[in-house]
Amino acid sequence: MIRSRREKLGNHTFVRGDCTTVLRRMPSQSVDIIVTSPPYNLGVEYRTYSDKLPEDAYLDWMEDVCTSLKRVMKDGASFFLNIAGSSAQPWLPFELMTRLRTLFVLQNHITWIKSISVGEITYGHFKPLNSSRFVNRNHEHIFHLTKRGDVPVSRLEAGVPFTDKSNISRRQHEIDRRCRGDTWFIPYETVRSRKEKFSHPGTFPIALPEACIRLHGVLPGGVLLDPFMGVGTSIIAAQRTGLTGIGIDTDTRYVNIARKRLRLAINQTEEDWEED
Ligand SMILES: C[S@@+](CC[C@H](N)C(=O)[O-])C[C@H]1O[C@@H](n2cnc3c(N)ncnc32)[C@H](O)[C@@H]1O
Repeated sequence: MIRSRREKLGNHTFVRGDCTTVLRRMPSQSVDIIVTSPPYNLGVEYRTYSDKLPEDAYLDWMEDVCTSLKRVMKDGASFFLNIAGSSAQPWLPFELMTRLRTLFVLQNHITWIKSISVGEITYGHFKPLNSSRFVNRNHEHIFHLTKRGDVPVSRLEAGVPFTDKSNISRRQHEIDRRCRGDTWFIPYETVRSRKEKFSHPGTFPIALPEACIRLHGVLPGGVLLDPFMGVGTSIIAAQRTGLTGIGIDTDTRYVNIARKRLRLAINQTEEDWEED
């Protein structure tokens, strides 16, 4: 068992430790929003974590973690669980969701599209698959889990402007925004400088947790938890939206990278303020 270590940066807390242990010490009903992407058990090569458990052991472990997550969630909290299967293990995300049915209501099921072809034009990137049986997998799941299925969501805050502006007056909308729906095209960001480069095999783009936060509704000072923080992407989204982030990861190097990325994000924000 690894000993956990806790550190504050700005409003946020990083914990290097095993989330099963750390969650047990957190107060009940203390978290407003969870955005996380656990290991998928697909054999991804993390630095220290082994991503190849027997399937039942993996599902038992995830069920255990999610039981603890439910305890720390406020009654009106949202839990956004990002996970994917592979061509060889397509059922895994659904097996997990079946296990979680007794704990949560599946309030929304969003498909995160990493790459899409519209007509002849392709947007975004994906890892090409060399196969005569399978097509490339360009999407992942975002399961929006809540305790009772009745958490109000900010459809317009997370929404998009109308393409046809005549819809606004014709349908008596107050603002130029409509619901984005349940397919979110979010490509990976382009790395612009060496400072932004980091090494982790399975991150999501910052825009993904940010969209989840906006859908739940931004509550300044609210608490966001990521029990599988990796290099801190969701904590950066928390910083950008005025939430207080708590990130947990077992790997010291990832926590160190998360800290550096957050420091950069905080400094960027401060620079933006000075320019205004
Ligand atoms: C899919 S990655 C998360 C990546 C993250 N969304 C990001 O953008 O950086 C899963 C992370 O879970 C961490 N992990 C595995 N077992 C853990 C545990 N028991 N407690 C906390 N973190 C764990 C791994 O080290 C890995 O960084």
